[in-house]
Amino acid sequence: GWDPRDFGRRAVDALRQQLPEGRAVVALSGGVDSATAAALVHRALGDRLTAIFVDHGLMRQGEPDFVRRELGERLGMPLIAVDAGARFLQALRGVRDPERKRRIIGQEFIRVFEETAGALPDVRYLVQGTLYPDVVESGGGKTATIKSHHNVGGLPERMGLRLVEPLRFLFKDEVRALARELGLPDRIVDRHPFPGPGLAVRIVGEVTPEALETVRACDAIVVEEVERAGLAREVWQAFAVWTGSYSVGVKGDARLYGPVVAVRCVQSHDGMTADWVRLPYELLDRISHRITNEVPYVSRVVYDISPKPPATIEWE
Ligand code: XMP
Repeated sequence: GWDPRDFGRRAVDALRQQLPEGRAVVALSGGVDSATAAALVHRALGDRLTAIFVDHGLMRQGEPDFVRRELGERLGMPLIAVDAGARFLQALRGVRDPERKRRIIGQEFIRVFEETAGALPDVRYLVQGTLYPDVVESGGGKTATIKSHHNVGGLPERMGLRLVEPLRFLFKDEVRALARELGLPDRIVDRHPFPGPGLAVRIVGEVTPEALETVRACDAIVVEEVERAGLAREVWQAFAVWTGSYSVGVKGDARLYGPVVAVRCVQSHDGMTADWVRLPYELLDRISHRITNEVPYVSRVVYDISPKPPATIEWE
């Protein structure tokens, strides 16, 4: 079988030969793929690798701290965290179309990354955590794109960098095994997928500060309760959605007209198809109560019972 230790050793040797001098940069997303690629290259090059974390302000609660702590401090990797939230929000103002939102976030991401990497001395390589399925998917033959996924396309050429993809022959389960071997914590190894454009695709319509704050707070409750119930490892993704709808409710003796929040929890093997998870009623009840107590202007909580297809996993 495939041996992560052996793979790691060979990859480190190969990286030292292929990247003999100069600096490498990597964009950390908080996900397992970029973290594993970064950890591998860090093992090979040490401080010649600089990790860059672009906080686009569309992260889940606590995410910037999580990345700094678990990847920067714990792995001892030089890490530059860029707080670019205001800039992204500004660029997204008034934009409602999902694909336009993705495009704007992708472009802004590349700009911030380029500015940050461009300020470092002697940068020659760009490390990316591309996996085998990503290579195959983008290699043509696919008929229609349902949703565009951003990466740093075009950036290596423009900055004159060589692209380094040490995971390009691995599948997800192999990456997880390698991540463990490299000493990445379970909290990273077992992470649920999270979309590059972040909470922006979990907000139907315009990304306003109110929608962002609400979906972030509700999401933290969903994730925490699913984890507490011991179900996190059994589900593909669990999250909250700002539906863009408002409904009438009652709070004390007063009428409340507030946002409707949806909870989505799906099982999947590869994200291509999915089914909604039959969460226990008690758990759904707890999530609902916590949301309306802790985010009190939310008028209603609904559970999404749509499989993929026809519904996609994210609402946008
Ligand atoms: P959908 O919503 O297409 O999602 O059923 C399938 C998987 O892809 C993730 N997803 C994205 N990931 N950029 C990403 O990096 C995106 O724009 C994006 N849209 C969806 C989604 O979270 C799920 O795991």
